[in-house]
Amino acid sequence: MLSAVRFKTLAVLRQLVLLSPFQTAAINSSPHNRHLIQLILSHLTLADLCRLAQSCKLLHQHCCDPLQYTQLSLQPYWARLSDASLGHLQSRCTLLQRLNLSWTGNRGALTLTGFSSFMKARGLSLVCLELSCCHFLNEPCLEVISQSCPRLQELNLSSCDRLHPQAFTHISKLIHLRRLVLYRTKIEQTALLSILTFCPEMRHLNLGSCLRIEDYDVVASMLATRCRSLCSLDLWRCRNLTDRGLAELVAGCRMLEELDLGWCPTLQSSTGCFQQLARSVPRLRKLFLTANRTVCDSDIEELANCCPLLQHLDILGTRLISAVSLKKLLQACPRLVLLDVSFCSQIDTRVVQELSSLFPNVAIKKSFTQ
Ligand SMILES: *[C@@H]1O[C@H](CO)[C@@H](O)[C@H](O)[C@H]1NC(C)=O
Ligand SMILES: *[C@@H]1O[C@H](CO)[C@@H](O)[C@H](O)[C@H]1NC(C)=O
Ligand SMILES: *[C@@H]1O[C@H](CO)[C@@H](O)[C@H](O)[C@H]1NC(C)=O
Ligand SMILES: *[C@@H]1O[C@H](CO)[C@@H](O)[C@H](O)[C@H]1NC(C)=O
Repeated sequence: MLSAVRFKTLAVLRQLVLLSPFQTAAINSSPHNRHLIQLILSHLTLADLCRLAQSCKLLHQHCCDPLQYTQLSLQPYWARLSDASLGHLQSRCTLLQRLNLSWTGNRGALTLTGFSSFMKARGLSLVCLELSCCHFLNEPCLEVISQSCPRLQELNLSSCDRLHPQAFTHISKLIHLRRLVLYRTKIEQTALLSILTFCPEMRHLNLGSCLRIEDYDVVASMLATRCRSLCSLDLWRCRNLTDRGLAELVAGCRMLEELDLGWCPTLQSSTGCFQQLARSVPRLRKLFLTANRTVCDSDIEELANCCPLLQHLDILGTRLISAVSLKKLLQACPRLVLLDVSFCSQIDTRVVQELSSLFPNVAIKKSFTQ
């Protein structure tokens, strides 16, 4: 479908290229026509725009129009992007708001020089910056971001595992951050606490696999006092969050809608922490309790009692759950669409089939490789 649109678009543009200078001037004098051309061009890829810009003066002008570059994803060109090509795009990006550089710049193609000159020139209007798997990033790069992008609301540093722990301290200067992804980075506790102190608008935070954070209870407590509007939190594989930390978190962050507590080995259902969680966050939509541990029927029943908006529940690997509590949950949560019960030893294929036929709108996932 998309490529059909692209094909038609190119056919229209081919006609434009054939016009005389007089005709193109006439076309361009009408705001309506200019708008129409912009609309057509908005269907093209960056590579198309760059090629087309070379075809004629009219199209060069339109292909370089900053309105075509409010959102720019350079991820598809990760293998070719260099300091030079980034510099080449700079003049067109005066209105840039969202930039995706994920996977780019590896093996020396992008350097501090190219990155920082782009950021210094174009950072002011940026609200979203995707930098996952950018191994060229170093501490000076983060310093440049913190100085040049005062309006930034979203920052994704997922899997930037070569960034030195010290680099993360710069993030606390981005005080309007609402979404921050630090999955699989080397951030340490001090830097994280400072970010949470200075970025009170945080809505979405991913701390999955941040193995250098020492004490997650301290982090939970800071989240509860500073980030009361938190909507989603990913603590996948967090080393040592306890029931005390979780209790504090859910008492402070009542707006939580998504919570990933997968593979958190120190949370024990016997403390009542999962039931308290269910009682504290009535807006909960997605909950991951993935692991091989203690979640039990009373936890599921409390979710059924308190979280009617639940859409997605993952209890992979919990042995204590019975079909009865799952049925209660399915009845109480009409919006449920996904229930993962893989490796739940009491829930066999026959139970899954029965529940699936009673609740056909829910995908009940059961891995069969056990
Ligand atoms: C930007 O990169 C991310 C990976 O960080 C990718 O998942 C996403 O689809 C990209 N966004 C756009 C708009 O291309
Ligand atoms: C951040 O990047 C990762 C990895 O590419 C992607 O999967 C994820 O969706 C992104 N997260 C956000 C919140 O944009
Ligand atoms: C978590 O780690 C910190 C620092 O290593 C330690 O002080 C705290 O007692 C740990 N908590 C648990 C529950 O192990
Ligand atoms: C759960 O733990 C048991 C024993 O500790 C192990 O045999 C089993 O493979 C584990 N299951 C999962 C899903 O990790």
